[in-house]
Amino acid sequence: MGKVITIKNNKGGVGKSWLTLQLAHILSNIDNNKILVLTSDSQNNVMLYAGVDIEFNEGLENWLDKGDGDMVALRENLYYIPLTSSNFKRGFDKKLKILVERLKSEYDYILIDSVPILNIDKCFLELADSIVIPTMLDTASCKGILNLSNEVDLAKVKAIVPNKFSKTKSEKFWKNILGDFLKGNSIYFAEPIPQMAFLSELTHQGKTVLESSSKKIDEIQNSLIEIARVVS
Ligand SMILES: Nc1ncnc2c1ncn2[C@@H]1O[C@H](COP(=O)(O)OP(=O)(O)OP(=O)(O)O)[C@@H](O)[C@H]1O
Ligand SMILES: [Mg+2]
Repeated sequence: MGKVITIKNNKGGVGKSWLTLQLAHILSNIDNNKILVLTSDSQNNVMLYAGVDIEFNEGLENWLDKGDGDMVALRENLYYIPLTSSNFKRGFDKKLKILVERLKSEYDYILIDSVPILNIDKCFLELADSIVIPTMLDTASCKGILNLSNEVDLAKVKAIVPNKFSKTKSEKFWKNILGDFLKGNSIYFAEPIPQMAFLSELTHQGKTVLESSSKKIDEIQNSLIEIARVVS
């Protein structure tokens, strides 16, 4: 039975879609795992970041209504159901649960790039076996993390992943505070992923970190592999 991993943060631009794709690609390279990515982002950034540009018109909404629809192959063993619009009909949540249950028998992992829209976000959190939270180490985001239990079921949160780290004084301050807060807790506090032009260039080329042999990102590759191990 497949496992659902939801990548979640209410803030934009923290790297949800990017991290979803990286973890999905890493997991698809382990043990011949079959991976599916879902999203509540009608911009379908995961597809864009994977460098796949194809037409689709029967996305998740179609799957909910008819049990079938577009399935985009992003890589070997790595598939994506696009979102065509964010207007969900009433009762979609029940259908989504049934659909995800069915897909769990076909995929080893279902990763969800979860954007805060309507109720679908809530549903994606309920469906999650694991929740991963990418965050930036700014004051507002970190205060949010300290109050995380107001937002999500902490028992499901498996990892917090600081991203776009530029080693400023305040970021280092918050890294320590969060590190202390999470000590003795079962939530994995990942090594911060640096803000790096090379990473955005890779994304621009439609490549994942696994597809780069640059020594520059060896450590980042290893950190992401470790995060994938922890949450899987
Ligand atoms: N560590 C990093 N260094 C440099 N660029 C990064 C890094 N992480 C992510 N990015 C880039 O930052 C941009 C925003 O990331 P992403 O789209 O994944 O954020 P998001 O949380 O999904 O945003 P939204 O809420 O708008 O969907 C992307 O172009 C991505 O390639
Ligand atoms: Mg996104």
